[in-house]
Amino acid sequence: MRAGIACATAMLTLAGSLVTAASLAEGPGNAIVAARQASMKEMAAAARAIAEMFDGKRAYEPAAFKAAANALGAHTGPALIAEFPEGTLGAPSGARLDIDQARPEFEALARHIGRLADALAAKAKTAPAGITADMRMTGPPMDGGSLLGKRPGVAQADPASMPAEHLLHLILQDCSSCHAKFRQRQE
Ligand code: HEC
Repeated sequence: MRAGIACATAMLTLAGSLVTAASLAEGPGNAIVAARQASMKEMAAAARAIAEMFDGKRAYEPAAFKAAANALGAHTGPALIAEFPEGTLGAPSGARLDIDQARPEFEALARHIGRLADALAAKAKTAPAGITADMRMTGPPMDGGSLLGKRPGVAQADPASMPAEHLLHLILQDCSSCHAKFRQRQE
């Protein structure tokens, strides 16, 4: 009898924890949120790797440079947009609900960083054995017509014509611009 009750209690507890696990997994876009946060972390690791190579804090390796640039390309542009579908925004995720109210701006940012990342990946494909002068940025990073700092009369600079280090700086600016506007503290 006792054993029977203990067993039933254990079953109830087990059932209870199964229900909890299921509702968490089915919460508002939980898997989608987890996947995009993992993508963002990958981008952060890739951007850091490239920055450290250019800053001399990590050994420059053409293959590692290429892999990191490809990772940035893979997680930006249309792929980034697809990671933020309706119904997966707001707490407890770090994505602001405002993304839905400002879709054109959010998507333009995602495409802008995507073009820069693609240009960087194209350069990395033929990266030389050591960092060459033409990969270096000369002067402050400038983008003829960046989304958030439009300078009238200045033609949109062509990413393909920019040194790799310059592209990296513009990419990092886009990370910050998007986070400032569309990311919130996670709950
Ligand atoms: C177009 C907008 C946008 C761009 C561009 C963008 N991010 Fe994010 N990022 C977000 C949003 C929104 C979140 C919050 C996601 C969530 O919690 O659901 C986020 C979250 C993150 C996180 C936290 C992930 C976690 O584990 O919670 C990191 C790290 C990150 N981004 C790094 C980067 C880096 C590095 C770049 C540039 C190479 C970048 N992001 C570009 C919008 C962007």
